[in-house]
Amino acid sequence: MNACTFNICKGSLAVVAFALVVLVAPRGNAFDAVTLADYSGAELFQRFCASCHGEAGHGDGPVARGLAVAVPDLTLISRRYGEFPSVRITETIDGRGVVITTHGTPYMPVWGYEFWVEEGADIVAETEVRDVIARLVEYIRSIQAGTRQQD
Ligand code: HEC
Repeated sequence: MNACTFNICKGSLAVVAFALVVLVAPRGNAFDAVTLADYSGAELFQRFCASCHGEAGHGDGPVARGLAVAVPDLTLISRRYGEFPSVRITETIDGRGVVITTHGTPYMPVWGYEFWVEEGADIVAETEVRDVIARLVEYIRSIQAGTRQQD
């Protein structure tokens, strides 16, 4: 694995290309060399999410500018919802079970599916996908801005 394996930082075209590669890639390809289970929540976030949501989660990643919708600041989730809604955030990231039109058009990739394909698209992969998403949710929880004294 190297830094370029999932290089999605070069603009929205790269993101589209990345999504296409993930979607059309047959099983047993280069992704087999990468096990997402090796990454911490913070590393997963930098690798898959920072291009849009920004390195610190403020919604200011390089790809965000090219999108027709605003990319939300993920450090303000607790403030926006009044608490950290873990289940809702888990489902939003997974994206497979919910109709993600509450925010308008679904501009965010369906990570549950993309991670699942990357991990081999089988039952073991499904377990790993849940684990990977849980780590991302914990990471996002850890970067919440204080809910008091910070306005
Ligand atoms: C291609 C850009 C893009 C990437 C990459 C991306 N997101 Fe998003 N994300 C968005 C946009 C845009 C929204 C707003 C919802 C919508 O319009 O689809 C969003 C919404 C969200 C929300 C909902 C926030 C709320 O307030 O309810 C969460 C959580 C989230 N993203 C997490 C992630 C995680 C975790 C990753 C990496 C695995 C990621 N995003 C990668 C663009 C992106």
